[in-house]
Amino acid sequence: METNDITQRDSFTGRIGIIAAVAGSAVGLGNIWKFPYITGVYGGGAFVLVYLICIAIIGLPVMLSEFTIGRKAQRNAVGSFKKLAPGKPWFLTGVMGIAAAFMILAFYGVVAGWTLEYLGKAVINSFAGKNPADLEGMFGGFISQVIRPIFWQFIFMGLTCWIVLAGIKGGIEKASKILMPVLLLIIVILDIRAITLPGAGEGLSFLFKPDFSKLSAEGVLSALGHAFFSLSLGMGTLITYSSYMGKNENLGSMAIQCTVADTGIALLAGVAIFPAVFAFGIEPGAGPGLVFITLPNVFQQMPGGYIFSLLFFLLLAVAALTSSISILEVVVAYFSEELKIARRNATIMATIAITIVGIPCSLSMGAMSKVQFLGKTFFDWLDYIAANILLPIGGLLIVAFVGWYLGYDKTKEEITNSGKLKAAYLPLFLFLAKFIAPLVIAIVFLHGLGLF
Ligand code: PHE
Repeated sequence: METNDITQRDSFTGRIGIIAAVAGSAVGLGNIWKFPYITGVYGGGAFVLVYLICIAIIGLPVMLSEFTIGRKAQRNAVGSFKKLAPGKPWFLTGVMGIAAAFMILAFYGVVAGWTLEYLGKAVINSFAGKNPADLEGMFGGFISQVIRPIFWQFIFMGLTCWIVLAGIKGGIEKASKILMPVLLLIIVILDIRAITLPGAGEGLSFLFKPDFSKLSAEGVLSALGHAFFSLSLGMGTLITYSSYMGKNENLGSMAIQCTVADTGIALLAGVAIFPAVFAFGIEPGAGPGLVFITLPNVFQQMPGGYIFSLLFFLLLAVAALTSSISILEVVVAYFSEELKIARRNATIMATIAITIVGIPCSLSMGAMSKVQFLGKTFFDWLDYIAANILLPIGGLLIVAFVGWYLGYDKTKEEITNSGKLKAAYLPLFLFLAKFIAPLVIAIVFLHGLGLF
């Protein structure tokens, strides 16, 4: 499938494949690692509520906008804007997206590496007989090492590179289609165990009972940023993926299905984690280790815990992989189509460069943990700049592009496939895209940075 001929672009084979690939991109560490951890840091229910509102009034219109742009242009994140708005600066939205992809994959590969280490630990049954304090020590001891986490990061980035080299049909689609449903099943089983733990109620009310006194301006901005991160929005991932879609796909229903699936899995992950956090006396604001510390406690409290821990970390690694390939694909499609670098070379070069930037991210957890700027490590900064700054700005430009630049007629033509598909929601979508989404993003963004 490695082709440099952009007139012969690779494509998805069908509906289920596309949905699986988009959902595979959306569902990842964002849902299972990051959502519970930042929910804990920003105080629980009120953060979750703001997150859900952001998904509905901003995430959905941005997703549909990315689909519209990508499928109309049939190009990468930068090329799409160049094609639809020739000679205009809109393509800079795509350039920013490439930068965001670079930063996100750098730290994403590190955390994904942790899932591989934990898969290994699950295989040799090393959670058995450990109490919550032991498990906390186990995590802290691992991430603060120099070599081991970087070793796993390299392995994970190698896997990502390898799948992207195999192309769209062969790699991305096949992996997503089989593994996503299995992941869902495991999480539901974990939910059942978690909510039947003694003291589970406290965790559920932490997650679902909003206490607005705990919500800060940075919390609101992080909820918005995470809505983008979790749905893979704001940096052209879905522009790139939808450029491989056929004209008869119903973009609106696809956007709704993927959004519901992604949000549902994040909430189910929260339900698996917070009751256990309270039941085992773990600090909800424990940070990036939350899932890695909490769930091994849960596994020990369930029959078949060995098998479940193994399956869980295996599937978490796979979910991370179906997301990481979508991030790498943004960079690779740009390098190969715009800079005319052979796809194979582009993939290898991008992987190496991103992996190198990931090294200081990994060291941020140990050797470089004291290297901080304004209280944030290198890892924290990449996450903050990408998720809380670049993705919201990218998202704003993307909805504004569809709402104001493409406008009603062109958007309608693309979404309805020149009148062949129904789209009763179109006026609502354009209203959100023109006014509500840009306005809310701008307010939350400026407020979160303390400028408003
Ligand atoms: N959505 C992915 C996750 O939740 C991460 C991601 C972000 C993927 C941005 C693509 C683009 O894990």
